[in-house]
Amino acid sequence: MIPFLDLRALNAPYDAEFQEKFKAFLEKGWFILGDEVRLFEEEFAAYCGTKHCIGTANGLDALRLILEGYKILGKLSEGDEVLVASNTYIATILGIRQAGLVPVLVEANLETYNFDFADLQMKVTVKTKVVMPTHLYGQLADMEAMSAFAKANNVLIVTDSAQSHGAKTSQGKRSGNLGDASGFSFYPTKNLGALGDGGAITTNDSALAEVVRSYRNYGFKERYVSAYEGLNSRLDEIQAAFLRIKLRDLDTSNTHRRAIATRYINEIKNPKITLPSWNGSEDHVFHLFVIRCKIRAHLCDYLKTNGVGTIIHYPVPPHQQAALKDYNNVSFPVTEQIHDEVVSIPLNPVMDDAMVSQVISILNSY
Ligand SMILES: Cc1ncc(COP(=O)(O)O)c(C=O)c1O
Repeated sequence: MIPFLDLRALNAPYDAEFQEKFKAFLEKGWFILGDEVRLFEEEFAAYCGTKHCIGTANGLDALRLILEGYKILGKLSEGDEVLVASNTYIATILGIRQAGLVPVLVEANLETYNFDFADLQMKVTVKTKVVMPTHLYGQLADMEAMSAFAKANNVLIVTDSAQSHGAKTSQGKRSGNLGDASGFSFYPTKNLGALGDGGAITTNDSALAEVVRSYRNYGFKERYVSAYEGLNSRLDEIQAAFLRIKLRDLDTSNTHRRAIATRYINEIKNPKITLPSWNGSEDHVFHLFVIRCKIRAHLCDYLKTNGVGTIIHYPVPPHQQAALKDYNNVSFPVTEQIHDEVVSIPLNPVMDDAMVSQVISILNSY
């Protein structure tokens, strides 16, 4: 049996260090916004190459807080439009709506799983103030094109980096440092995953950093004195401690992920299966290895029978979710095709060569 992802095995190498950290944590008795959060923020900012990192309770809040922060700074107002890919994870869209802004969905490109640029251009209005690419499945959006677009249309770039920890452009710039501000998630399955919920904002904008740092903590300017009507969305001290331990191995585990992806791309040969497009560079950290198949349900049954775990990311596009009724009567044919055909196969740093070979052989026999 090859599970889609075994979180117990993924965290097993850190067992002794986690136990030691937890013991020290109990002895110290400081549970909220202490040294571990401060040090993680410094270390993750240094890793991403940004001036600032602000820990949050989760990735959804990270995205929302960035937009709330820009509202406080007067760069955004209620009702402004945010361009977002129609095939993103629903949290991107919820973050925009919860900040009082309007998500404008943009059709996806079938090869990159990112924006269809022609549709992106068409969706610009006088109310467009932000473009919000998601580095979906771990692959960076075309940020050169995005920067040119943002400049031409005078809009902010906020990236949803929740699936792309460590991904790098050919100039060596990392995810989190490729726009005005970025939101990360440290949900346990992510490339950098906590043992519970967690998130962060990275930015080089010092004014934004100051506002969101306060906004995540009841808008406090100082203890019990609120400047803003903020949230309680703090990264937990214990999660920050665990994340600091795992951050050290992020590059190694991303390299391992790319090695598995390289084997899959070179060795899976089956005309019924479409593999991801990737140029072999470090712009992809393979949070997920997503294939497409016209007869997906049949393929999933076959993989299950042969002991290979799969997950669909995602089965229902945002515009067809009951939660987003305002969008239910529009159609995005490429996005709908993606949601009908995609399936994620196991790819994670605890897989050895034999497991990878087994997945390849089972897929080639389909
Ligand atoms: C692309 C994307 N955006 C946002 C999120 C939201 O993160 P969280 O679950 O930590 O709120 C996730 C992960 O769940 C995600 O994959």
